[in-house]
Amino acid sequence: MSFSFIKPQLAKQQELNLYRSRKELDKGAGRLLVHQGKQYINFSSNDYLGLNQHCDIKSAFKKGIEQYGCGSGSSSLVTGYSKAHQELEELIADWLEAPKCLLFSTGFSANSGVLSALGQSTNTGYFLDKLSHASLIDGAFNSKAKSKRFKHNNCEQLNDMLSSSDCNDKLIIAEGVYSMDGDTGNLSSINNLALKHQANLYIDDAHGVGVLGKEGQGTLEQQNIEKGSHLIQMITFGKALATQGAAVTGSAEFIDYLVNRCRDYIYSTAMPPANAVATITSIKLCQSEHWRREKISKLTCLFKSQLDNSIEITDSQSSIIGILTGSEENALYCQLQLKNKGFWLTAIRPPTVEIGKSRLRVTLSASHNDKDIIELADCINEVIGKCLQNK
Ligand SMILES: Cc1ncc(COP(=O)(O)O)c(C=O)c1O
Repeated sequence: MSFSFIKPQLAKQQELNLYRSRKELDKGAGRLLVHQGKQYINFSSNDYLGLNQHCDIKSAFKKGIEQYGCGSGSSSLVTGYSKAHQELEELIADWLEAPKCLLFSTGFSANSGVLSALGQSTNTGYFLDKLSHASLIDGAFNSKAKSKRFKHNNCEQLNDMLSSSDCNDKLIIAEGVYSMDGDTGNLSSINNLALKHQANLYIDDAHGVGVLGKEGQGTLEQQNIEKGSHLIQMITFGKALATQGAAVTGSAEFIDYLVNRCRDYIYSTAMPPANAVATITSIKLCQSEHWRREKISKLTCLFKSQLDNSIEITDSQSSIIGILTGSEENALYCQLQLKNKGFWLTAIRPPTVEIGKSRLRVTLSASHNDKDIIELADCINEVIGKCLQNK
């Protein structure tokens, strides 16, 4: 191959303990994970509500396949848009109290697609939280908008940036729940700044939807943010809702604009209608089964209470908890030790997090039980304790 940078770049990744590889799993999402015939308790998946193996969602998928076939067959503007897609869009708009909704096949393409569709000129200013997901960063910086990043949740800096901006159209971009730290966005203050500076607000709630809010509507509902025409909400289906895809909500005019001008939407095969049918079932379960959210909160409190004081964790307000290990090497070592004891966790390393802030990312789910949590905390205390002593 002529791309001579590939070999040295891979070698460098290895040398820096940053090399990434996939594990072929026999079973991945859900409480139990199976790898090479061995079973592990899974603390790595984003199946927060424990819906991954739910029989109603599986039956809905099968029913959808019977009715519509395996895939959508084309992009939405050709013949890929079905009654199932429409029903799902209406359900989401109603659930999130938004005027309109549009489906995307992945959250990544929703974020990058919307930001490239809105960022058409240097008259647009994007203001992103420093910890924004890669899809938001790519969408913003690959667009024609002037993009700036403010320190995580730092409203003072955001205010200064908005005050000094000469852009006609301003969009603040933040997340509901930050996926690597598990803390929530300071949405109330950020929304006040949006209103003060006549800016629009884009909230990626991939990790908040399902888990936060009275009926799982996400962080905006949990923080009582009043809905306005300046607000765009993005949710994903591949985490708490246990299917696949994403939705963007906003004003009717904005959604109409995306249908006409968002290249990721127009030039991509629509999600399988069966996936939309399954997601409808999943959202209805999420709305009604409050016990799942209550259980996650209880398990999270239990987990934190079992950890030794010496264990450094992220400032989490969700069921995502980062166990800070410092170096990449430590994170990989602790991951392996915990795996040997039957717990599957993922070491998170740069560039996903800052250098020196590597961690084990623990995600708790409604499918876990007290025993799982206590045993995990005991093992973390032992493994991390030893690792810190040996430093
Ligand atoms: C905050 C955030 N936004 C967007 C995405 C992308 O969503 P999807 O996995 O549906 O592409 C992710 C997934 O990791 C995410 O964590």
